[in-house]
Amino acid sequence: MSKTVIFLGPPGAGKGTQSQLLKERDNFIQISTGDILREAVKNQTSLGLQAKKFMDEGKLVPDDLILNIISEKLEELKDKNIIFDGFPRTVAQAEGLKDMLSKIGRKIDAVILFDITDEEVVKRLSGRRVCPNCGAVYHLIYNPPKNDNVCDKCGTPLIQREDDREEVIRKRLEVYHQQTAPLIDYYKDVLIKINATLSPEDIYKHIKSVL
Ligand code: AP5
Repeated sequence: MSKTVIFLGPPGAGKGTQSQLLKERDNFIQISTGDILREAVKNQTSLGLQAKKFMDEGKLVPDDLILNIISEKLEELKDKNIIFDGFPRTVAQAEGLKDMLSKIGRKIDAVILFDITDEEVVKRLSGRRVCPNCGAVYHLIYNPPKNDNVCDKCGTPLIQREDDREEVIRKRLEVYHQQTAPLIDYYKDVLIKINATLSPEDIYKHIKSVL
């Protein structure tokens, strides 16, 4: 039976890093609304043009745009193991997801809550570097690339995300606490809290043990 898992937590908690590990090692499909939106911005699609101003300011993109993205993706992924990375982020998105999943006979198996303080998030995001080609994620101190500022996997020069400036990080945290944290209560029956300050390998082992 295919698994449906949600990664919930503040920006910079390590959701993308763990999604990559589960994708590489355990055959999960990652649906990251953030990655899909950044790709749309890069390609200047209609979605990207609508989303950009919200993302640059650290605000949430409107629910209807996000739910359209998910509905298209779910069509393709009916029988796969799925991780929703950074989705849902509002109660309205969670309600929308519930309806879409019930139509295809799926349910949410687990919501993994990444527990971390705001100060640790700021440290992580200000040192984050990403590969604009393959999406690999690094940190200048905690997880540096082998060769200075170049992706280990594909050799592309790494970049800093536009929204990883400190003032935007603070705004994203505020938005998380106001609009996304209510999902902790919404999903209390399937919620599994993990300590997101451990090493990536220890977090991976914890997640595997609960899935
Ligand atoms: P999105 O791309 O989803 O960003 P986010 O949720 O803010 O999460 P991040 O990608 O910043 O962090 P992460 O938890 O994946 O951490 P990572 O693994 O990279 O969203 C961006 C924007 O898009 C939003 O602001 C919004 O505008 C819009 N958006 C997206 N989805 C939306 C939705 N559903 N509704 C509305 N709007 C939406 O790790 C961070 C750093 O820490 C890295 O450098 C990494 O190497 C390092 N690290 C990771 N794990 C560890 C560890 N265990 N120890 C030490 N360092 C670690």
